[in-house]
Amino acid sequence: MIFGPRLIALLLSVSVAPVAANPVTFVERSPADPAQIDVLVDQSQLSGKLSQIDLSDLIEAGRRLFDTKFTNADGAGRPSATQATIPTHFKHARDVAFQRASGPDANACTSCHNNPASGGAGDFTVNAFTSGGTESADFDNVDPQFSNERGTNHMFGSGLMELLAREMSADLLALRKAAFAEARAGKTVAVALHSKGVSFGTLTIHPDGRMDVSKLEGIDADLIIRPFSQKGVIPSLRMFTLNALNAHHGMQADERFAKAMTGEADFDGDGYIDELNTGAVSALVAYQATLEAPVPVLFDKPAWQEMADQGKTLFATTGCASCHVPSLPLRSMTFSDPPL
Ligand code: HEC
Ligand code: HEC
Repeated sequence: MIFGPRLIALLLSVSVAPVAANPVTFVERSPADPAQIDVLVDQSQLSGKLSQIDLSDLIEAGRRLFDTKFTNADGAGRPSATQATIPTHFKHARDVAFQRASGPDANACTSCHNNPASGGAGDFTVNAFTSGGTESADFDNVDPQFSNERGTNHMFGSGLMELLAREMSADLLALRKAAFAEARAGKTVAVALHSKGVSFGTLTIHPDGRMDVSKLEGIDADLIIRPFSQKGVIPSLRMFTLNALNAHHGMQADERFAKAMTGEADFDGDGYIDELNTGAVSALVAYQATLEAPVPVLFDKPAWQEMADQGKTLFATTGCASCHVPSLPLRSMTFSDPPL
């Protein structure tokens, strides 16, 4: 049985108060309340106080936020901010609540991630469109010529995925560092990059510090593994969450959109500021990172189990397992955000 990471260490800043106040406050909301967020998370009570807080409250706060149908009164909508990862204004402010191609396209994370349960995948009807034209909605289109339709990924085991990516990236960066040290002594070094039995091609370092990345395989030149999205271009749950909050819901997290980051208190021009604080994003990450990983079903009908076993053998013998590596053990199950 595989379990999700057991521990979430939130170490955005280190503090040494002997006993932490409860960082999570749950509030009662009637379904008729204009605003629907029903939890407050105080990041200053999380940072560095891991051993003193009840993580189940934090995870529950994340589940609630993930399931919340954000309303205008929560700050949903973004009349003057595009869906781009880097805060960007529309050239012309627009006043549409929902836009199928470039969003906002839903009220809750679970509007899409609901199959078979919260944190899961999504049906065809909730496919998202990643569009090229981020500055003008006029050019956002569901036509495959202009945008890229994506099925909704599930997040079960995603904390393990992120830990794996971090460990593998760390291995590759260590190999690069050692190669640089060797090259500095005056020779060209070609290092075979690998981690946990997976090969990533060859990196060549010249004595003058030039780096030849032309023989890398399956990894960007910065040697960072990005496990998330269908294309594998996002390194962390946190970054994906910040993107999704803005793109799908028009909910701007302070850590990306606050005045200190963008120079504008209400970057998206919806009349609301401080839509989600850092603690709320930490809770969303804690929830997703601790969703349990899927495990193979054990059938009670012997004939079915036999077929499944045959499939497992075939999976290996036909070469599927050469890419879908059956096991990639982790050195540590401790998930810290951001990484230590
Ligand atoms: C409109 C549907 C929709 C909504 C709403 C939505 N997502 Fe997603 N989500 C997707 C799709 C589609 C993908 C795959 C995206 C891709 O491949 O680029 C995805 C992928 C992800 C991933 C990457 C998972 C992986 O293993 O690659 C994370 C994390 C994620 N979403 C988090 C969230 C969070 C958090 C929210 C709410 C703030 C949210 N999503 C809201 C449709 C949605
Ligand atoms: C050359 C490497 C490679 C081989 C060999 C390979 N796969 Fe894949 N497979 C991938 C990659 C990469 C993806 C992700 C593709 C994407 O998301 O666009 C994938 C995705 C999948 C998925 C979808 C998983 C999901 O969560 O969406 C299934 C199912 C799958 N492969 C089954 C198989 C089977 C069965 C075999 C053997 C017959 C096989 N694969 C052989 C690389 C491979």
